[in-house]
Amino acid sequence: MNAKTVTFFLFLVINCIYAQQSVDQKVEELLSKMTLQEKIGQMNQYNGFWNFTGPTPEGGDQKIKYEHLASGLVGSMLNVRGVEEVKAVQKIAVEESRLGIPLLFGFDLIHGYKTVFPIPLAEAASWDLDAIKRSASLSAKEAAAAGINWTFAPMVDITRDARWGRVMEGAGEDPYLGSLVAAARVHGFQGEDLSSPHTIAASAKHFAAYGFAESGRDYNTVDIGLNTLHNMVLPPFKAAVDAGIKTFMNSFNDLNGIPATADAYLQREILKGEWNFEGFVVSDWGSIREMIDHGYAKDRKQAGKMALLGGSDMDMESSIYINELEALLKEGKVKLDLIDDAVKRILKVKFELGLFENPYLYCDEVLEKQITGAEEIIEATLDVAKKSIVLLKNENRILPLKKEGQKIGLIGPLAADKTSPLGNWRIAADNNTAVSVLEGLQKFKENQINYAQGVKLINKIPEGFHEEVDINTTDQTGLEEAIALAKKVDVVVMVLGEYGFQSGEGRSRTKLGLPGFQQELLEKVAEVNPNIVLVLMNGRPLIINWASENIPAIVEAWHLGTQSGNAIAQVLYGEYNPSGKLPMSFPRSIGQLPLYYNNKSTGRPGADGEDAGSVFWSHYGDEKNSPLYAFGHGLSYTQFEYTPVILSSNEMRKGSSIMASVNITNTGKVKGKEVVQLYVQDPYGSATRPIKELKGFQLIELNPGETKKVSFTINEELLKFYNAQQKWVAEEGIFYVFIGTDSTVKLKKPFELL
Ligand code: NOJ
Repeated sequence: MNAKTVTFFLFLVINCIYAQQSVDQKVEELLSKMTLQEKIGQMNQYNGFWNFTGPTPEGGDQKIKYEHLASGLVGSMLNVRGVEEVKAVQKIAVEESRLGIPLLFGFDLIHGYKTVFPIPLAEAASWDLDAIKRSASLSAKEAAAAGINWTFAPMVDITRDARWGRVMEGAGEDPYLGSLVAAARVHGFQGEDLSSPHTIAASAKHFAAYGFAESGRDYNTVDIGLNTLHNMVLPPFKAAVDAGIKTFMNSFNDLNGIPATADAYLQREILKGEWNFEGFVVSDWGSIREMIDHGYAKDRKQAGKMALLGGSDMDMESSIYINELEALLKEGKVKLDLIDDAVKRILKVKFELGLFENPYLYCDEVLEKQITGAEEIIEATLDVAKKSIVLLKNENRILPLKKEGQKIGLIGPLAADKTSPLGNWRIAADNNTAVSVLEGLQKFKENQINYAQGVKLINKIPEGFHEEVDINTTDQTGLEEAIALAKKVDVVVMVLGEYGFQSGEGRSRTKLGLPGFQQELLEKVAEVNPNIVLVLMNGRPLIINWASENIPAIVEAWHLGTQSGNAIAQVLYGEYNPSGKLPMSFPRSIGQLPLYYNNKSTGRPGADGEDAGSVFWSHYGDEKNSPLYAFGHGLSYTQFEYTPVILSSNEMRKGSSIMASVNITNTGKVKGKEVVQLYVQDPYGSATRPIKELKGFQLIELNPGETKKVSFTINEELLKFYNAQQKWVAEEGIFYVFIGTDSTVKLKKPFELL
């Protein structure tokens, strides 16, 4: 570095410090002008509660909320959207309240706004971090154009239990993949410049361990030790903090006896202490109040006290802070410092978003029209949807379909469905707006696709977001038509799975087979025509043993969003060679759950975890231990061959690194992408270690016959874990390195950490 560069660098650092100080100073200055009630008001969040562009409410709850808005007693609203509405509400806060502090407008952008992206679990299957970042960035852009400046995403809960309906919202079972996806989403939502009208603040949720709800039942208790908490649950949250995330949301569950909302160990010691997180924490919906039902707080007042002491800065929809904090302070049960700290954190985000300069930054009607449903967003949705598809099985190369001379029959309750592909979290999107598989395929066949619904999956399509639907268990009238169709065609494409609202919040299930009469439909069709391509649409791993044994091709197509049918058709016709890999294990049986590849060995692992030739080893008498489809599994229309791993050295000193490499050749006939996966095993530790852990991956593309060398750097950082002494360290000793196409890779090479 020459003197000029050093000076410039110092200038940047000083400027940066100055800018930082000035936000903090502005926050302090504003805080000094605020009354106690105004401070508490910033910590209060309400749900959208009336049509803001209509008359002012005259009585009841709505009137109170309106008055609170006008008196500066609300810090944020959620679920108010659209420029007209947002502007109207912001105007009340800014023009009617004493200090005119602008509001944050929060919204769940789990997989898109008006234009729907694939569900997050699907996007994680792409292992394509750029595509995931772009998806978050364009979702933010579309929502920001509609007035939203804060999203309750990304959901970074690690989950091992497909019974839990919310697995669709996360990145699956692995903390390494989950951490990279979390960071990509944070960068996507927040961009380089938070004060741009196209970027919004993000929120990592649900802090913490919500994904470990006992027996996969939503909102259920979580009881896990520090080992699992630190090694499995927390890494994606830490990655979100490192990526500069502005907010966190805590969770509904209790963790080892303490509701997460009041967990000072999580929120004060780890998040705001050890990790130095400077943003704020919002509670989950009503989770402060729910501490009474948890049997943790005896009343609303105590719940408010516990939440604040525990580190919750903003109260979502419990109305407890706004009603109880003042009294708690006067009674000396909470300190003003804690309130001031929470308010400062909230104000800081508002300053960083640029809301004090322009409270209507996100309220430009022209931009809203231009950006909503823009070509750029649609194109990105299609791109990531294709990348999210996982080819689970392809026997006899039944796929890709032939564009000429092949008669296709399309069967199944989800084949023409234009709503289910939109998935669960899509409050701002309209029903019937996804491209169906039927429409997608017709583009390739000039409307020559023969279609039969077969059986209905549901009896009623939901109109409102939370309206429930009935699974069809009575009507089989479409079966005959479907069988007749299957008889006359060369290949049957069957689209089966879960309807859009069958997974998601509150949608835990104990049966993970194909719901309704779909299994019967599949078996009956297979009797008359075995050439079946099964396209699955679902929000979680399903149990598909029969299909896996009897159906030649299976395509995991999740709920892929607005462009679903086009993406699926392009994959089926080979226009896009599938490259997705499972981010979650697919079980063989409900009894295996929770199921995950990075499990511990146990004292009785058997031979390779499958057969010990006796009774007394860790297994089931009636089922294998292994999943039906493993974490990381996914096929291509071409094949890849791996050479054994080569290590640059079989020793590594702490602080240095070694390289692990393989050569990969495309031995098939078409160009294809492969996710090359690096796993490491630490076979002995001061605390027991997983049998294998993902520690790297690279997405490469190879032409037929082409070979590429893929190398990974292994350093001390990569080998660290939360050990028996509760330290994050790499322990000396032997490690094994695996590089392969999925988590079942066997070939390994040892090295020693000195
Ligand atoms: C409850 C959900 O648990 C949370 O994820 C979501 O952000 C809030 N509702 C607000 O919609």
